[in-house]
Amino acid sequence: MTGSKIAKLAVIMMLFVLLAVLARSCISRLTDTDVDSGYKYLIGVSQPNLSEPWRVAMNEEIQQEVSKHNDMRVIFTDAAQSSEQQAQDVKKLVGYGIDLLIISLDDPVALTQTVTAVYKDIPVIVLGRGVTGYDYTLYVGTDDEMIGRKAGEFAMETLGDSGGAIVEIQGLAGSPTVDDRSKGFREAIQNSKLHIVKTMNADWQRDRAEDLLYEWLKENNDVNLVFAHNEAMALGAYRAVQKLDRNHINIIGIDGVNSENGSLQLVSENKLTGTFTSPPGGKEAIRYAIDILNKEKGIPKKVILRSQKITDQWEDTTSRITPSPDPSPEQGDAPIVVGFAQVGMESGWRIAHTKSVIDAAKEAGVQLLYENAEQSQDKQIEIIRQFIKEKVQVIAFSPKTETGWDEVLQEAKQAGIPVILSDREVNVGDDTLWTAYIGSDFREEGRRAARWLMQQAEAGQSYQIVELQGTAYSAPAVGRRQGFNEVIQTDHNFTIVESLQGDFTKKQGKELMAAALKRQGAKINVVYSHNDDMALGAVEAIENFGLRPGKDIIIISVDATKSALKALSIGKLNFAVECNALLGPQLMKAVKDLSEGKELPMKIITAEGVFTQESAKMALASREY
Ligand code: AHR
Repeated sequence: MTGSKIAKLAVIMMLFVLLAVLARSCISRLTDTDVDSGYKYLIGVSQPNLSEPWRVAMNEEIQQEVSKHNDMRVIFTDAAQSSEQQAQDVKKLVGYGIDLLIISLDDPVALTQTVTAVYKDIPVIVLGRGVTGYDYTLYVGTDDEMIGRKAGEFAMETLGDSGGAIVEIQGLAGSPTVDDRSKGFREAIQNSKLHIVKTMNADWQRDRAEDLLYEWLKENNDVNLVFAHNEAMALGAYRAVQKLDRNHINIIGIDGVNSENGSLQLVSENKLTGTFTSPPGGKEAIRYAIDILNKEKGIPKKVILRSQKITDQWEDTTSRITPSPDPSPEQGDAPIVVGFAQVGMESGWRIAHTKSVIDAAKEAGVQLLYENAEQSQDKQIEIIRQFIKEKVQVIAFSPKTETGWDEVLQEAKQAGIPVILSDREVNVGDDTLWTAYIGSDFREEGRRAARWLMQQAEAGQSYQIVELQGTAYSAPAVGRRQGFNEVIQTDHNFTIVESLQGDFTKKQGKELMAAALKRQGAKINVVYSHNDDMALGAVEAIENFGLRPGKDIIIISVDATKSALKALSIGKLNFAVECNALLGPQLMKAVKDLSEGKELPMKIITAEGVFTQESAKMALASREY
């Protein structure tokens, strides 16, 4: 190395040290004096423990991001695995006058009341694991069911056709993260020759996992694979396996934290067979915290981060998932070009969605190439191919159905064009074929509809439900059906007597309902419609049949457009679950972020409410669509 290079290196290293010192000094624990020292924003971060490397990485990310903002300070607390301590920590943080709370939970049930109480006064971001109910501002984390499913698929790949016996080591019992990871894993392996022979709860802790597995393996020989719900427990499993000299046992973990005990390292040292990253989300939490504190519009309810599979073959695919749009230098300062392939014009919701995208593009100075696929998947594929030919910089579309997109999305990926799914998700073999999804949680919408119905139900009364489904195989029809069923199947008083395939139009809603009434007569006492248009069609059919919609038959709908709120306010509908149609601004923000080279979260789930007959009357005047 030449003298001048050494000098340059020394300067760079000094700068790094200086930055690190500055960063630490800005974000270390605050004293009371610091709290009064005039910073604009004070953030409190409550951790349930810091014994997991994943949580340490989370705090480090938060520290790093906060250090970029001179007007921000942060206080961290560590509850050392005690829920009571965490509740006290939160109170203390609030006492310091924090402007926003970031909380990560191990035991959401024990902390729900605490979170709810804080949320009444200041914004709360729930980070990483554990979230119940809706009493928080934003959740940042991963899709745990999806991670579990991927882990299950990887277990099948690893053990091959002959299958094998699996031990599942779960985190803290009762945590939604545990339930979701386990559910996804079990669903993935259910029709294979893989069997879970033992499930144990090691509370996310390495040593507990080691002890439990060690004791169990001493008495049980036939185990081929251990699936541990986090990397600390995977490491514990590795230690147990080593002690017993059972090196043939494969171990799959979750987290992918690149720290000393992190999974990336464990995989590269062949201690783990593979792992799935669960990004800690500290960086994203602070970015959204700033938007929340600055009272920006369109803050989502959930931000789902992308998980990657890590094996010894691993390569970072982030840049291929979120390629920056081609800046087209020959165009100089020309606006960014986005091709938008709308699915059709089937409903009032869709009209509002289209308008929102067009208006937002205008406002953002984006050149929007808008095409309508008129409810034809073939046509939608053709439009996307045309966009690829025209070399647009970003493609956005609302997929008619969940499946059938692999080929065209592969073509977009090969052309280096990022694809954003606006409103509906796709189900493709390789989820790196699309960059981000912006829209609703359809399954949750279905659950909300069912929960309301069950709350209204009279004891001992039986409910005969007609379900009016949306377009076959579309994400909203699949999700709303699943979510609704999940909840009502817990009570035998609720029966879906007919589930009819509609297409989200008023005409179909009316025809299907008229036919159902002919078959079932007055026996029907509930209609659950996947959207407002079909519900309003059903209202007409019910009136034509001589019954009173909203009185003789309870009608629950999804979308909550202005027409539905009107029907609610005059008692012809009973309940509407909101599906946010105003997705244009968030789409344009994502386009802008991409053009600035920022990484997008995998899913941005919009905030949504529900409407009863009473609340609809109040909301009607200001309803935008
Ligand atoms: O994808 C969203 C759904 O599509 C809306 O709920 C429905 O009205 C629409 O047509």
